[in-house]
Amino acid sequence: MQVTKTVKETRDIVKEWKREGLTVGLVPTMGFLHEGHASLIKRAREENDRVAVSVFVNPTQFGPNEDLEAYPRDFERDSALCEGIGADLIFHPEPEDMYDNPCAYVSIEKLSDNLCGKTRPVHFRGVCTVVSKLFNIVTPDRAYFGQKDAQQLAIIKKMVKDLNFDIEIIGCPIVREEDGLAKSSRNTYLNAEERKAALCLSRSVAKGQEIIKNGMKAEKLLGEMTEVINAEPLAKIDYVSVVDALTMEPVEKIDRPVLVAMAVYIGKTRLIDNFSWEPAEQ
Ligand code: PAJ
Repeated sequence: MQVTKTVKETRDIVKEWKREGLTVGLVPTMGFLHEGHASLIKRAREENDRVAVSVFVNPTQFGPNEDLEAYPRDFERDSALCEGIGADLIFHPEPEDMYDNPCAYVSIEKLSDNLCGKTRPVHFRGVCTVVSKLFNIVTPDRAYFGQKDAQQLAIIKKMVKDLNFDIEIIGCPIVREEDGLAKSSRNTYLNAEERKAALCLSRSVAKGQEIIKNGMKAEKLLGEMTEVINAEPLAKIDYVSVVDALTMEPVEKIDRPVLVAMAVYIGKTRLIDNFSWEPAEQ
């Protein structure tokens, strides 16, 4: 496995792969890898001749009061995990190599307005910009994203369609801890008491999955899901919403493919979880 720090080194390696006619899968990450990330890398390994993983804590997707400095980092461990799965390349640039007084940004309108976009106004512009850059640097055939960040996945799919990136976007299922908590690098911020309280997210998701049915009012579903979270004193809801799976716009009645998503503060840590649902074919 090779580790590159610069855009040029990365391009040179990928160019050689392409010259040999090999297919390339890319897994973009911010590092501090866990089994959620590993599932994406494994899938990429199965489906491509060469696998590149990017490890970059992208400053442009953090708001001014967010956890950029505190975001956990452990490159040695990340690198061992990637090597263990059989990745061929880790691209691990410094912020200075990725951003030199930039004037160009990529924003995907409308889909970025709701859910996490509301409380994190610059977030998706930063994500779309860095992912576009990674696509241009690595020129993968396929790129892998988790449904854990369902709005991000929907936005990237729309970006690829609207801007004609010749890349297949593969969405991968949420990987959870044994007790149900969705795996996240941010789970390391939780103390023992908060870790227990954090289970209210997956419990609420399970409740939603149990009761959701065609024709149901979104309000009814959200009421029951919210109740589960509000029963937990350490939890403070940012949002719990039902949106159209493609447009990310709120729906009143559940009668089409939807994303049911939530962001909840447990103490100071903001956690997300979600599930997708679609009506059974008639
Ligand atoms: P990061 O949070 O490191 O996540 C990298 C990828 O791993 C994302 O596609 C995310 O959805 C996926 N992932 C994280 N936890 C997961 C879980 N429990 N199950 C399945 N997949 C999971 O998302 C980002 O980084 C950044 O925004 C990035 C796309 C790299 C742009 O900077």
